[in-house]
Amino acid sequence: MITPRFTRAALEELGIDPDAVPRHVALVMDGNGRWAQQRGLKRTEGHLRGEDALFECVEAALELGVEWITVYAFSTENWKRPKAEVKFLINFNRETIRRRRDELHARGVRIRFIGRRNWRVPKSLLRDMEAATELTERNRRLTFTIAFNYGGRAEIIDAVRVALADGIEPDRLDERSFGRYLYDPEMPDPDLVVRTSGENRLSNFLLWQAAYSEFLFLDILWPDFTRQTLYEAVREFQRRSRRFGGI
Ligand code: FPP
Repeated sequence: MITPRFTRAALEELGIDPDAVPRHVALVMDGNGRWAQQRGLKRTEGHLRGEDALFECVEAALELGVEWITVYAFSTENWKRPKAEVKFLINFNRETIRRRRDELHARGVRIRFIGRRNWRVPKSLLRDMEAATELTERNRRLTFTIAFNYGGRAEIIDAVRVALADGIEPDRLDERSFGRYLYDPEMPDPDLVVRTSGENRLSNFLLWQAAYSEFLFLDILWPDFTRQTLYEAVREFQRRSRRFGGI
């Protein structure tokens, strides 16, 4: 079997409580450019190394039994970067999906996308996104969601637009019914949001969904993220006490 899930004993050996593994971990993969610049390399090299770090992280999530991983691959604000980098990032995302789709499928991973589809995203990329989604839609071991052309505020606005177009009665709109208009109504809220590179902010990622998430800000740059980093993030998550507004 590919990437077996750790036994309870193996998790305990790692200092991880098998009954309290976060169900959904969201990742802001920050610092690829700085990682490359520190080594005198082109920023694009940092993104390529970031891809390796990401798929090692997915392997670690499969080992631990994390059921949902969501990554911030391209934000609605990233269009402001220099044209050449935007072009690189679009192609890089396309190539990454093509390169990784089959291995993710073989591991029982379901690939999904969140983000604005009808604005600026090239048609050919949309087709690759749909092909990866369709190929893997019956997989259940882990749902790997790629936030592409994603912004949390844009998601909320888009949800309001759909709700209004749906003719929803104001009295019927509550937190539960609103959730049905988000990009992926099935996605559970993230238990843990991890951001690398020493920046302590959310940058418009999963604004609605992260209301009660635990946050972990790491000083390492994304390409240096390893399986061990995810294990340690889960141990840190388990040291926190979540009260959801109660006592
Ligand atoms: C932030 O680094 C990272 C990105 C903008 C893209 C990261 C994407 C991947 C690693 C691959 C994702 C692709 C798929 C399809 C899952 P930065 O450029 O902001 O670094 P800096 O803050 O040091 O400049």
